[in-house]
Amino acid sequence: MVREMREYQGLSENELNERITQVRQAFGRRLVILAHHYQKDEVIRHSDFRGDSLKLAQIAAQEKDAEFIVFCGVYFMAETADLLTSPCQKVILPDLQAGCPMADMAKPEGVAACWELLREAYGDRFVPVAYINSNADIKAFCGREGGMICTSANAERVFERVLTPEKSLVFLPDEHLGRNTGLRLGLRPDEILVWNYRNPDTNILPKQPPRLIVWQGFCCVHQRFRPEQIRSVREQIPGVRVIVHPECPREIVALADDAGSTGYIIQQVTDAPLGSAWAIGTEGNLIHRLVAAHPGKTIRSLNPYLSYCRNMNRLREHVLLWALENLQAGNVVNQVQVDPETAAFAALSVQRMLEM
Ligand code: 13P
Ligand code: SF4
Repeated sequence: MVREMREYQGLSENELNERITQVRQAFGRRLVILAHHYQKDEVIRHSDFRGDSLKLAQIAAQEKDAEFIVFCGVYFMAETADLLTSPCQKVILPDLQAGCPMADMAKPEGVAACWELLREAYGDRFVPVAYINSNADIKAFCGREGGMICTSANAERVFERVLTPEKSLVFLPDEHLGRNTGLRLGLRPDEILVWNYRNPDTNILPKQPPRLIVWQGFCCVHQRFRPEQIRSVREQIPGVRVIVHPECPREIVALADDAGSTGYIIQQVTDAPLGSAWAIGTEGNLIHRLVAAHPGKTIRSLNPYLSYCRNMNRLREHVLLWALENLQAGNVVNQVQVDPETAAFAALSVQRMLEM
């Protein structure tokens, strides 16, 4: 019988910790817990591996002995892990309500309609590239149409590979990562077209094909940062280095000293000398852990109020225990499985990235 969530709600921190540790010990290598850097401390402390999207996808692909992969992250991450694991491995997302609003901004019907218009206007010129923060059906679209996926850690490499004099790129669903990457590779702003997916009739295709089309999706966490926050932190902390995630809007990335994926931000702050000062434009749980890990450095959020991802933040320790004890009792709860037809093409788009 499936164990009920309400049995877990009032458990003390100690009990939760002990019981999770016991389940992990009992499963041994049959169970792997992966956690994205934006998860709460109470979840991170139980993970076998923590990482950014790229690292976690790579680990999921390598963990061949694990029967169960419990993914502490959001839905598209668990789907990606399912694409990369064998049919006898099961991927569990302990809280199935943890989605990603940005991923949901690109729907297959809208993407297919856009693609049709691009084909009519420019023939086979465009290659679709999806951010890993996309649903499996969008990854499958990219796989089917000769494209691939990327993460914030390798977007430049993927763009460089795809963008040739003969080929243009359509990037889904994050406008900002797409534009920031294109500009970093030397595209001019007028070579980039933003695709308004909410009112597609307002999109006007120029005669000459754009080099890059970016879907008008965004991450609500990273879109929140403001130029005045950068000016203000520079006044308050002379010599501060401002580092932001490339899901931030262009004006933020342009004013910052550096931009990079979650893993890159951690590396930069970790490698910096004692006494250095950092203002970071990304998710709050990660910043909070960096502050705790580096007492000899001044580290603060660019936003005076930490910006948390509501979806990453949903997962609590008692929900993790509920999922784990159900697994132990033989109840596979909250398994994420991509249907086989979608999975075949979606996996192709992920493999093309990993092979790079
Ligand atoms: P990375 O883990 O690739 O830095 O992406 C950040 C993010 O928004 C995850 O949802
Ligand atoms: Fe989605 Fe942004 Fe949350 Fe990442 S941080 S899961 S992109 S909403």
